[in-house]
Amino acid sequence: MILLAIETSCDETAAAVVRDGRDILSSVISSQVAIHAAYGGVVPEIASRKHLESIAPVINQALLDAGIGMEALEGVAVTRGPGLSGALLVGFSAAKAIAFARKIPFVGVHHIEGHLFAPFLEQPVPFPFLALVVSGGHTHLYHVEGFGRYTTLGRTIDDAAGEAYDKCAKIMGMPYPGGMLIDRMAQDGNSVALKLPRPLLRDGTLNFSFSGLKTAVMQQIAKHPVAIPSQAAADLCASFQEAVCHVLAAKTEAAIRQTGAARLVVAGGVACNSGLRSRMAALCSQLGVELSIPHPSLCGDNAAMLAVPGDYYLSHGFASPQTLDVTANWNMDSIKESLL
Ligand code: KG4
Ligand code: ZN
Repeated sequence: MILLAIETSCDETAAAVVRDGRDILSSVISSQVAIHAAYGGVVPEIASRKHLESIAPVINQALLDAGIGMEALEGVAVTRGPGLSGALLVGFSAAKAIAFARKIPFVGVHHIEGHLFAPFLEQPVPFPFLALVVSGGHTHLYHVEGFGRYTTLGRTIDDAAGEAYDKCAKIMGMPYPGGMLIDRMAQDGNSVALKLPRPLLRDGTLNFSFSGLKTAVMQQIAKHPVAIPSQAAADLCASFQEAVCHVLAAKTEAAIRQTGAARLVVAGGVACNSGLRSRMAALCSQLGVELSIPHPSLCGDNAAMLAVPGDYYLSHGFASPQTLDVTANWNMDSIKESLL
């Protein structure tokens, strides 16, 4: 099945053409990051307007790169939520319009479900597996038994890991989104230079909390302002990264032991992080667990990842009705019911 996939949940307008939920024929990502950077974060109203400007050219480019016309499409997979309502509506309306005009089915997919299955574009992972999804809006541990069969084992009770990275970078005076910049700066720093908290490390749950870490960085900067770049800034970045990765790895290890999982998927934008990638590799080799982390180009927001669950749902008769709306807040655990 040749699917067009569309993603507009936040600040990336993306479209991809994917065959059989596996072969990426094209993947186009138009980022608004430079526009939102001036405001220190994503401005929802601007995001919607930019999606509206970019959606048609991005879809056309994806078809052009794949070397096919609209008539070759057999279905459309699109992010239905969670995300910014106005932003979601742009991609969702485009998907519905194409499906209606071409008389092909479309399916609304959960954004995190896309992240979860991004590794499948490289190599399918046998079910069941444990998944750590770390992005700008999510830090979740899921037990995944199949498509649409997810159980949340743990989640952040405040900031997501990516949010903590971006907020910490902002406090340090770095541009939005600062996750990648902290990661880069951390390479030259000493990760034990500063003692930062490890929130909820030993609370006996699989939940996370990162807002206290952000406050600790704020207090540190208030006492000892740092210049960018400097050794002090690199040390702060390395110590922050160490604290985040330590907690993510410890909770993931607890989840592996609790579930007896033989496979682990790490996905989402923060899965680009060099410290997290090496830490998870070490953890999995120590525990004898098979690790799947997508190539960094598939970790951040893209449309191709949506085609994996999209292909499954459409080939199993779970098309969405034209009356379906976007869902800004959408719990992964309720996906099966909402599709049926
Ligand atoms: O999955 P994603 O592209 O969008 C959301 O669904 O949120 O994730 C974006 C998040 C941002 O917070 C960004 O700063 C973070 O991923 N990120 C990183 C790195 N690259 C992206 N965080 C830490 N280290 C990185 N290398
Ligand atoms: Zn995302």
